[in-house]
Amino acid sequence: MDSKIELIPVLRKDDIQKRIVEIARIISSDFANSELVLIGILKGSFIFLSDLARRLSIPVMIDFIELSSYGNKTESSGSVKLTKDIGIDIRSKEALIVEDIVDTGLSIEFLYEHLKSLGPKRVKICALLDKRSRRESNIKIDYACHIVGEGFYVGYGLDYAENYRHLPDIYHLKF
Ligand code: IMP
Ligand code: MG
Repeated sequence: MDSKIELIPVLRKDDIQKRIVEIARIISSDFANSELVLIGILKGSFIFLSDLARRLSIPVMIDFIELSSYGNKTESSGSVKLTKDIGIDIRSKEALIVEDIVDTGLSIEFLYEHLKSLGPKRVKICALLDKRSRRESNIKIDYACHIVGEGFYVGYGLDYAENYRHLPDIYHLKF
């Protein structure tokens, strides 16, 4: 990796877990008595989804979907493509998208419309990080764990060119 890259700690694992407990409590209450399917967006959400799912006090089904990614760049190309669809039939169920970070919102908006077309009762969105100031879409994030400023974040599932996903804390990547 580039030796000039610096990792500045932003969220420690304890703070991440504390907030997940709070969000999980809200989600468990909002979706009590409903058939809920968690839909994680690969690959960035895999750690967040696994921690969130284990904090819920309601039964859920779990599936994953994959969208085309940034590649090795840190800016969205603006064009989003579906590379792997869900396998669970979500007709008449509740769908909760679980995303690592929402930036422009274009990926999540695309996914929201796609899932809507599959006939669920509702589609809601949960994001670990919300980079709100960069939003280019009117999409509503129903459950946002942490609002973060501009910049590029890695760790706890989030990558830069497929690196840093394994780190337990979240860092701001400085080039
Ligand atoms: P959006 O379509 O601009 O909202 O981009 C969302 C997607 O870009 C996320 O699913 C991430 O995979 C990726 N992304 C955006 N910002 C970051 C970041 O700061 N770190 C790592 N990935 C990011
Ligand atoms: Mg992603």
